[in-house]
Amino acid sequence: MNTKTELQGKANRHLWMQAKGWADMTAAGEPMIIESANGISVTDIEGNTWLDVNGGYSSVNIGYGRKDMADIVKNQMLQLSYYPEQTTTFPNALLAEKLAEITPGTLSRVWPVSGGSEANEIAIRMARAYHVRRGDKGRYKIISRYGSYHGATSGVAWLGRPASLGLDQYEPGPLGMIYASQPNPYSCSFGGKSPSECAILCAQDIENLIIQNDPDTIAAIIGEPITSSLGAVVPGEQYWLIVREICDRYGILLIDDEVVCGFGRTGKMFGIEHFGVTPDIMTLAKGLGSSYVPIGAVIATTQIADAFAGKENIFYAALTAGGHPVSTASALANINIIEQEGLVEASAVKGRYFINRLNNLAVKHPIVGDVRGMGLLVAIELDSKFTIDDKELGDWLVNTFKDNGLLLRTLGSRVIQMSPPLCITEAEIDIIVDALDSTLTKLSSYLSKV
Ligand SMILES: Cc1ncc(COP(=O)(O)O)c(C=O)c1O
Repeated sequence: MNTKTELQGKANRHLWMQAKGWADMTAAGEPMIIESANGISVTDIEGNTWLDVNGGYSSVNIGYGRKDMADIVKNQMLQLSYYPEQTTTFPNALLAEKLAEITPGTLSRVWPVSGGSEANEIAIRMARAYHVRRGDKGRYKIISRYGSYHGATSGVAWLGRPASLGLDQYEPGPLGMIYASQPNPYSCSFGGKSPSECAILCAQDIENLIIQNDPDTIAAIIGEPITSSLGAVVPGEQYWLIVREICDRYGILLIDDEVVCGFGRTGKMFGIEHFGVTPDIMTLAKGLGSSYVPIGAVIATTQIADAFAGKENIFYAALTAGGHPVSTASALANINIIEQEGLVEASAVKGRYFINRLNNLAVKHPIVGDVRGMGLLVAIELDSKFTIDDKELGDWLVNTFKDNGLLLRTLGSRVIQMSPPLCITEAEIDIIVDALDSTLTKLSSYLSKV
């Protein structure tokens, strides 16, 4: 049997963990070794239990530890663990049909992949190839918004140029990356005084960039309906409508990254539904399978897919794990659970409760500059007048949350985003908000010492 210290030793000697350094972890007696999980709670090897406030990577939508999911995975493995080239399977066909049914508009053709980065890579290739197939050959540029995150692989890492990826080390990036501003009403780059003013100014920024960069060379615009990478940034309600209209006017495709926002996270099945817009291509992962097994998907409208129909017109982007039947079977079961247990509606209701409680916290703690979000994608941003922008503060917050029973990472030092499993109870939300309350009280005395 491996003890905690032995496992930490093995991890620190051989494992290359995400966003953590082995030297720091060795010095701090880390990493934490999680052994089991249920609902929104996780338990470590010594039996200590925490609330996993962000449910994995904002990905465990139905909650941890469901036996029905384990049964589906086991049965699928026993019946058909994989499949021969150029064939498909029951769960692949059924999942494709299900996604076509629940996504908006004419989104109807599904390309299964194994995660969100792959989904966005494929979506971009699909968008570029779509234009070429129609004889519109010069369109290769992609517009994303600064600070967005769309994945870690070599192409999509450049979308949004997120600070966390340290892209300076990988220059030169791909050609044709254009960056627009985030429609963040709390800190609008163009001085918009209301969500609506900010939405209009930021949509205008996109149109200006299109004009400056030769409209006929732009293939697509990609964005999350609500930007999770900057902490649940909700644009003013006109933003996506105007962006959709701009896309149509210039023949540019709209790629909707629903990797985080999808499957009930924001209180609707898909985040874009809050804005009454249908994208040309939608990318899915995380909540699609609730992280029981890896899965992602790209879904395109009939119009996009039709450009790839017919002889000698096939879209080549095969991925061995794309459409793995165990993944697609588990995604189907996951979507059934979301629907049967009313988790989309639960996300809307619990999200309102969460936001109300956070708003009360903001009244009590002037250090809270902004409370925002939709459904169970919520965030608070600390006011830069009172805080310092350094890693130490971020680490202090993470450690203080841990002392209060929460596993909760910050985005930089000032944004605290929460995206728990959609099965969270009000009592669990109370525990999180009470822990935030005591952390914010301690924060004032911490800041007076640094
Ligand atoms: C909005 C968004 N898109 C894409 C990705 C990439 O997904 P994956 O980590 O599954 O490759 C992420 C991951 O965090 C994400 O937040």
